[in-house]
Amino acid sequence: MRKKITVVGAGNVGANCAVWAAKKELGDVVLVDLAEGIPQGKGLDLLQAGPVEGFDVTVTGTNDYAPTANSDVVIITAGIARKPGMTRDDLLITNYNVIKSVTEQVVKLSPNAILILVTNPLDAMAQVALMVSNFPKNRVIGMAGVLDTARFRTFIAQELNVAVTNVTAVVLGGHGDTMVPLVRLSSVSGIPLTELISEERLAAIVDRTRKGGAEIVSYLKTGSAYYAPAASAVEMADSILRDKKKVLPCAAYLEGEYGINGLFVGVPCKLGANGIEQIYEIKLTEQETAELHKSAAAVQELVDVIKAKMSEA
Ligand code: NAI
Ligand code: 2OP
Repeated sequence: MRKKITVVGAGNVGANCAVWAAKKELGDVVLVDLAEGIPQGKGLDLLQAGPVEGFDVTVTGTNDYAPTANSDVVIITAGIARKPGMTRDDLLITNYNVIKSVTEQVVKLSPNAILILVTNPLDAMAQVALMVSNFPKNRVIGMAGVLDTARFRTFIAQELNVAVTNVTAVVLGGHGDTMVPLVRLSSVSGIPLTELISEERLAAIVDRTRKGGAEIVSYLKTGSAYYAPAASAVEMADSILRDKKKVLPCAAYLEGEYGINGLFVGVPCKLGANGIEQIYEIKLTEQETAELHKSAAAVQELVDVIKAKMSEA
């Protein structure tokens, strides 16, 4: 039977997730949004790209969840995006309410789905989805590391004028300014970055990676990045739906790994048919550990706000 992939939120990220997913023929695509007509219009438009682009899947746009029933993967992008001057964390309470309501509706009809969260603040929203869904932790995953790593790889390739596909990079931590790009473990075809780029330039590239989202917001002014985020979420869905077992940096619920407990933080994960099939615990230096824990503390602050809000209700 064909796989079904639902994308909740038919805005910039969601619509582009639908495009990549259809183009890759990951399965039939359902696009859901509150806005009347938008998912229907975008869905029909995308369906009509099939004959040109040579993909053959159904694309359904809808305002209700019935067509999402029995989805294999659900990518959640619903919520508000950053405007200039806003941090990802400014989105916290608005998007908490959105993710709570979306997750409740999704899990009723797709109790076996794997959820990929995109909505910001990412790590905290993944935690909301885990708490609301009561799904096992391997089936709730946050997308951030694939994007942050893609930015890091892009900047390294630009700096050295080498093929971006030769650049491998590792980024750990929460999706925010405290993320931890691991220079020590990043390379160009196995050649350590430290042998190719000066310390000063590397520091600048790390800083640009950390601020990669804000850089795009400063250009767009009315929203945030969407092409690379959508491609990143769909790469995760692809690894799950086709059981590729790719090792990708994902926000995963940690229970003791890296000395972090009860929190979503970005770490390298194996993604396959069961969602997160393995979390890799890399040996870190003291400084890297301190940076990772600082990043986790920033996520914890947001989660504490949410937990307080949940206990009020
Ligand atoms: P957008 O504003 O273009 O689209 C959001 C869509 O969500 C809108 O169409 C809106 O109608 C819909 N929506 C709002 N509440 C809803 C609900 N309760 N049910 C269904 N649909 C609902 O925003 P964009 O650019 O697509 O970004 C979406 C989210 O993804 C934002 O929170 C943004 O910060 C986040 N993001 C996260 C990234 C990451 O690396 N994790 C990267 C890029 C964006
Ligand atoms: C990004 O990193 C806004 O989180 C989004 O582009």
